[in-house]
Amino acid sequence: MMNASARTWLFGCLFLCACSRESQTEAPSAKSEEAQAELVKAKAIQEEELAELVKARALQEKERAALVRAKAIQEDRKMNSKAWKEIAPREIPYNMARLFGEDWMVVAAGNKEKANLMTIGWGSIGRLWSKDVVTIYVSPSRYTFDFLQKNDHFTVSHFPEAMRDQLAYLGRVSGRDEDKVAGAHLTAEWTELGNPRYAESDFAIECKKIYAAQFDSSLLQQEQRDWYKQRGIDVHYMYIGEIVHIWQK
Ligand SMILES: Cc1cc2nc3c(=O)[nH]c(=O)nc-3n(C[C@H](O)[C@H](O)[C@H](O)COP(=O)(O)O)c2cc1C
Repeated sequence: MMNASARTWLFGCLFLCACSRESQTEAPSAKSEEAQAELVKAKAIQEEELAELVKARALQEKERAALVRAKAIQEDRKMNSKAWKEIAPREIPYNMARLFGEDWMVVAAGNKEKANLMTIGWGSIGRLWSKDVVTIYVSPSRYTFDFLQKNDHFTVSHFPEAMRDQLAYLGRVSGRDEDKVAGAHLTAEWTELGNPRYAESDFAIECKKIYAAQFDSSLLQQEQRDWYKQRGIDVHYMYIGEIVHIWQK
C-alpha cells in the first residue's frame, strides 16, 4: 500500500509526463503551420511578381507596337508626299534576289469597284519572248487568285521596311474576311489603265498578263509533290506579266 505522500508524488510525476508528451506533440504542428503560412505568403509574393512581369511585358509589347506603327505612319507620310517617277527595267534599284524572298512584294489586281491584294514571296523579274516580265506564283485558294484570273493586268508593289507588319497582315488575312486596304492603313490609287497601286509603296510594277497556268502536278519532282501533300493545298498557278510600267519614289 502507498502512503498519501507517495501517492501525491506518483500522480505529480504522471501529470508532468503527460504534460511534456502533449507539449512534444503540439510544438511541431504549430511550427509546420507557421512554415505552411510562410510558404503560402512566399507563393503569393511570387505570383504577384509574375503578374507584374507579365504586365510589364504587355506594356513593352504595346509600346513596341506603337513605335512600329508611328514609324510606319512616318514612312506613309513620306511616301505619300513623294511623286512617282517612271523608270526603265534596267534602272530597277533593287537586288532581285532580295526583292521577293526577303523584302516581300504585294500583288494586286482588280479595278476601282473591286480589287484585292496579298503579300507574295515567290516571284521574279526577267526576260521572256524578248519582253521584260514579272512572274508570280499564286495558290488558287487565295481570294486574290479570282482577281488575277478575271483581270488582264496585275501590279506588284514594294513597301518600305518600316511597313513589314502591314505586309505580314496582308499575307495572313484574306480579303474575303476583311477590307485589307483599310486594315493595313493603305491608300489605294488607280493607274491610268485602272489598276490598283498604293500611295505608301516606294516601287511598283504594272504588268499585262501574257500567260497563266497551273503547274502540272504529274511533272513535279517528289519533293514538291510532298510539299503540297503535307500542306493539303492545290498546286500553284504561274502568272507571267509583261512589264508595262515601273514607278519609283
Ligand atoms: C511573306 C509571305 C509570302 C507569301 N507568298 C505567297 C506566294 O508567293 N504565293 C501565294 O499564293 N501565297 C503567298 N502568301 C500567302 C498569302 O499572302 C495569304 O494566304 C493571304 O492571306 C491571301 O490573301 P487573300 O485571300 O486576300 O488573297 C504569302 C504570305 C506571306 C506572309
